[in-house]
Amino acid sequence: MSTDPLGDLPAEEMRAHLHRMADWVADYRENIAARRIVPEIRPGSIRDGVSEAMPKNGDEMERIIADLDTAIMPGIVHWGHPAFLGYFGSTSNGPALLGEMAAAALNVSAMTWKTSPAATELEQVVLEWIRELVGFPENFFGVVYDTASVAVLHALAAARERAAGDVRGRGVIGRDDIPKLRVYASDQAHSSVDKAMVMLGLGEENVVRIASDHGFRMEVAALRTAMAEDAAHGWRAMAVIATIGTTSTASVDPVFEIAEVARTYGAWLHVDAAYGGAMGALPEARWMLRGVEQADSIVVNPHKWLFVPLDFSALYVRDRESLRAVFANTPEYLRGDAAVGEDVVNYMDYGIQLGRRFRALKAWMVFRAFGSEGIISRIREHLRLAESFAERVRRSPGFELTAPVTMAVVCFRHSLPGMSAAELDEHNERLVERVNAGGEAYLTHTRLRGRTSMRVGIGNIQTTDAHLEQVWGAINSLAEQQNDTTA
Ligand SMILES: Cc1ncc(COP(=O)(O)O)c(C=O)c1O
Repeated sequence: MSTDPLGDLPAEEMRAHLHRMADWVADYRENIAARRIVPEIRPGSIRDGVSEAMPKNGDEMERIIADLDTAIMPGIVHWGHPAFLGYFGSTSNGPALLGEMAAAALNVSAMTWKTSPAATELEQVVLEWIRELVGFPENFFGVVYDTASVAVLHALAAARERAAGDVRGRGVIGRDDIPKLRVYASDQAHSSVDKAMVMLGLGEENVVRIASDHGFRMEVAALRTAMAEDAAHGWRAMAVIATIGTTSTASVDPVFEIAEVARTYGAWLHVDAAYGGAMGALPEARWMLRGVEQADSIVVNPHKWLFVPLDFSALYVRDRESLRAVFANTPEYLRGDAAVGEDVVNYMDYGIQLGRRFRALKAWMVFRAFGSEGIISRIREHLRLAESFAERVRRSPGFELTAPVTMAVVCFRHSLPGMSAAELDEHNERLVERVNAGGEAYLTHTRLRGRTSMRVGIGNIQTTDAHLEQVWGAINSLAEQQNDTTA
């Protein structure tokens, strides 16, 4: 055992391990494309491999690091693999890794300005950089959370306060002055909206799913009808969610038109630009954000498509007080810390979390190292790759696109003659399973209009044409095999 029984690793030993780990990380990143993406393991096998009791006297770092390779790595899905095209890609990178390492060493908590001036002020700076980069409205107040799910929970908590009045003080139970509080979102909107309503005690049945059109965009006429019907029942419109870059197809809701309807009923407008907000960085795509200036809150996830690794989600609110009114609550032991003055931000006042890690550091390193032009070029490259993949689909007999390609997401399916709709769904689902099981590529499936589609999402800075060629090859040869089996 080499650690001091009452302290840390001896300084020289730690330095040596840090160097070793730096090599480990660099090797991993450099050679990631040679790995199998998904592990070939059974559930429980990783647990079984590390299930000895906690060592009583501490283990040697050499052994622990060796176990990382032998016991942990066999259970990793390599999200950073350039042929990992599932979900929305979240990409790690050198600058971010360095930032994470420094943040771990500093281990500060950005709860008040006084507990961490640099983390607090860098968070403000980075949030301003993001806002300017993607063209969100000026004067909106930003705060970083871990995820967009947590961001929408906070936004809807502020919306609830506005719709019902003093929920903070009186709660919602036993009040006859609060009717049903309704939230409207398209049938393509993310499930985090339902979860938020559960958390807020308002019930997921009060999320009204509005039909989307052939391009998977919310139908504004259907929204108008649903809100009018609810108003006729005496129910209150608490919020409307408009999405820029929906989860399945990356469709873009008509935010501007939705805003007008929301305003008619006094509803809070939350824009979920978790994925698609990144498109605002491109002058030629800025139109997709038309209407965000009318929002009460907007979320963008730099951990989806602004090259900041998990986790980092940025919420912007029109009225800073709307969050403070719900969440500011200074316990006695933090009074001195919180009382620095009006000019500083104490981020603990804007959310449920007290302890907050220094997420801004990795983002700052990424944005400094890539620059706005570097970010824009990478997004454009992903759009080019998606379009080239879509073109392969269009040109190939038996394949068809199942949604318009608006961002770096391609939804498509393969058909075989003579198969029923249910058989075709199974065929496509099986294709995804078999591509993934092969270990050289990874995609996901989704349901669109009740039918199964395959889905490719490009967001990794290491993905190239060659990787897409490889994925396309795998899909085609398996599709042929399945054809032979069924013939
Ligand atoms: C459109 C959209 N909104 C919100 C979320 C939730 O994001 P998070 O994983 O950060 O909670 C997702 C997740 O993919 C999403 O696609």
